[in-house]
Amino acid sequence: MSASRLPPTVAILGTGWLGLPLLTDLAGDHAIRGSCRSPSGAEAIRAAGGQPYDIDLPAAAGELPAFLDGADTLVITLPPGGRTHGERTTEYYLSALAPLAPFLRNGLHVLYTSSTGVYGNAVTGTVTETTPVAPDTASSRATVAAERWLREHAPSLAILRLGGLFGPGRDPIDFFRRREAIPEADAPVNLIGQQRAVAALRFVITRRVTGIFNLCAADHPSKREFYGDRYRAAGRPPKPFLPGGGAGKRIDSTKFRLLGGPEL
Ligand SMILES: NC(=O)c1ccc[n+]([C@@H]2O[C@H](COP(=O)([O-])OP(=O)(O)OC[C@H]3O[C@@H](n4cnc5c(N)ncnc54)[C@H](OP(=O)(O)O)[C@@H]3O)[C@@H](O)[C@H]2O)c1
Repeated sequence: MSASRLPPTVAILGTGWLGLPLLTDLAGDHAIRGSCRSPSGAEAIRAAGGQPYDIDLPAAAGELPAFLDGADTLVITLPPGGRTHGERTTEYYLSALAPLAPFLRNGLHVLYTSSTGVYGNAVTGTVTETTPVAPDTASSRATVAAERWLREHAPSLAILRLGGLFGPGRDPIDFFRRREAIPEADAPVNLIGQQRAVAALRFVITRRVTGIFNLCAADHPSKREFYGDRYRAAGRPPKPFLPGGGAGKRIDSTKFRLLGGPEL
């Protein structure tokens, strides 16, 4: 009789807009744990097929040992929270990560959902993983600090620098809801849809991929083309497009594509 193998255990820290669909996707063939900060969050995790753990870092870390006990993979999707924490964002973010340190042992594969924001807004042209980081916001500075902290603490680490996320409940045209016009309309967009991001994360988890990877759609239409199409699809009149930005950054995800993973 052959011994049956247990499914790999994945612990997802932060089950929000990206973490919960990832949990749902993995629940069919993995044992899934998800962290939450509310009873409704726990209910959503259970409904998606996962086991909830009440964790709010750094203050409420009591369930971390059980959350990570025997886990094969940890996915960290905590956002840096620049709007909430302002100039203290890096301090807050590193203090939220600190309780993880004793658990980042050999054999635990760690994924961190970083952001292409680490390259900053001033960079132009093609941006690869070797492009120097140049963070220019509270959130992107904290994200760079988190990447550095995780590189020091997690022996088996995948840093995934995601482009702007869109999908259910996050229509890209809403990014400009408070604006009269869409600025730099000739600039290329650097986005990734929720489903494709989830598929990429699943691939990284199942292949135990490590390293730094940009995750962004291969095509980079101009904002004018992309958002024009979205307004038309939504049956809404487009906001005025202001010219400029044509030399803007194009996030290149060739390194990920060469792994033979899913389309971004
Ligand atoms: N949005 C984008 O365009 C974009 C682009 C690039 C990268 N990213 C990155 O992608 C990741 C996922 O983003 P998302 O849109 O899914 O974020 P989200 O919807 O805000 O979800 C974040 C989750 O983390 C939880 N959380 C926040 N702070 C926590 C803390 N201190 N302790 C424990 N749990 C905490 C939240 O709990 P509650 O539900 O209780 O608040 C929520 O469930 C983030 O790392 C983000 O930086 C996002």
